[in-house]
Amino acid sequence: VFEELKGMRRGHMSIAVASTANYFAPRLLATFFQRYPDVTVSLDVTNREGLLRALAENETDLVIMGKPPEDMDLVAENFMDNPLVVIAPTNHPLTRKRSRIPFAALANETFLIRERGSGTRSAMERHFAQHGLELSSTMEMGTSEAIKQGVEAGLGLGLLSLHTLEMELALKRVAVLDVETFPIMRHWYVVHRRGKRLSTAAQAFKHFVLKEAQNLLSLPEPGRPRHKGAG
Ligand code: PGA
Repeated sequence: VFEELKGMRRGHMSIAVASTANYFAPRLLATFFQRYPDVTVSLDVTNREGLLRALAENETDLVIMGKPPEDMDLVAENFMDNPLVVIAPTNHPLTRKRSRIPFAALANETFLIRERGSGTRSAMERHFAQHGLELSSTMEMGTSEAIKQGVEAGLGLGLLSLHTLEMELALKRVAVLDVETFPIMRHWYVVHRRGKRLSTAAQAFKHFVLKEAQNLLSLPEPGRPRHKGAG
């Protein structure tokens, strides 16, 4: 395969990524295209439910997603961690508890949550159910962007992949809370249907993601809210 890849001039691949993975997938493509400038891509960005549909209907070569489903005949390889964290407005009272906030302290908070069909949303629901906590107040928002904007504006807390938060954390627009049992550790997988005949370009991209994505991408530091005078 390698000789073939070296000489690869043209080729096309279709890739579908989770909306949360859209925060790093373009960077991977940019490095990949430096090596294979004549490859073309069509990139679809959708939530988990959309990705499952694309796989079921054989609409795409490769998918980058959270935990693959067990009831489909797929090849799925893990290439990177995906920590989900709780975020708050920077002036929220819980930001003053600097570490190990009890999980139960979240019960009375309003949470901005992703739409049904989102993998982030289902991981959140599983986590709360496992720990016997029911949220009393939620507001559904369709995208990670809407959740970040809502949290920053003070509408409530949010639960998002750390991958989506690079800019907001650098600019200190939201704070990551250090809550017991968090982060929820999800993982990223590159996935295709078993038996799918991948184009040379798609094979090369899969190989590249498995070998290099982890080193090319660094997760933002969760940081700690800092309060003047707080011990
Ligand atoms: P989502 O997928 O964008 O649908 O939330 C991410 C994931 O499955 O973790």
